[in-house]
Amino acid sequence: MSTEHPRYGLLGRHAECRQVDQLLNNLRSGQSQVLVVRGEPGIGKSALLGYALRTASGFRLARAAGVEYETELAYAGLHQLCAPMLPLKARLPEPQRDALDAAFGLSAHGPADRFVVGLAVLALLAEAAEEQPLLCVIDDAQWLDTESLVTIAFVARRLLAESVGLVFAVRQPSQVRELAGLPELVLGGLRHNDARALLDAAWPGRLDEQVRDRVIASLAAIRSRSSSFLGS
Ligand SMILES: Nc1ncnc2c1ncn2[C@@H]1O[C@H](COP(=O)(O)OP(=O)(O)O)[C@@H](O)[C@H]1O
Ligand SMILES: [Mg+2]
Repeated sequence: MSTEHPRYGLLGRHAECRQVDQLLNNLRSGQSQVLVVRGEPGIGKSALLGYALRTASGFRLARAAGVEYETELAYAGLHQLCAPMLPLKARLPEPQRDALDAAFGLSAHGPADRFVVGLAVLALLAEAAEEQPLLCVIDDAQWLDTESLVTIAFVARRLLAESVGLVFAVRQPSQVRELAGLPELVLGGLRHNDARALLDAAWPGRLDEQVRDRVIASLAAIRSRSSSFLGS
């Protein structure tokens, strides 16, 4: 049994949840915030993003997720993120409106100027955060199309005091150079008791204790071998 009661469906991860709580508080107080959550498949990146979404009360939320078979579709991910905010486009300068229209296939003009698209998205997110803080959650960023990734990373590096939060999840290992250097949170394995509780909850019926402990030990050994192989 885990010694702790799961918080918002999450077992353990107390330090990580505190970091997310702090990020949300900073956004509420008017700062902008960026966080790149990294970790191997299944480690709990999406679960932590879910925690951020569930606890962001009073926020406007925007979401996107990279999809493996859409990586060739220019601006597909950005369109997912921005679509609910597009009515605010009317408040942007004309060249920025035109650039968004070109990027999202709303005009015959093209190709979109990437720099102006970046400025337009920055302005659009700032407009969206005018009345309440905005939390953008971008899962599986390793599968975003390049145009979207470049644009969102451009925005992430230019945020100042707009109450705009960008929280990414990126599978490790993966080559996502665009997000390098941004504040990050690397997820390791759960503590033993939490891993046991998670396995118990996920396993239909009763799991033999010795089998359960052997599964956890094997996973920890695989993780430590792959992290020393990767030099991280
Ligand atoms: N701390 C946790 N508490 C409860 N369930 C968790 C926790 N971490 C991961 N899980 C569960 O484990 C599975 C894999 O986690 P997920 O967040 O999808 O991993 P990732 O996004 O890193 O691939 C999901 O079913 C998720 O709900
Ligand atoms: Mg995930």
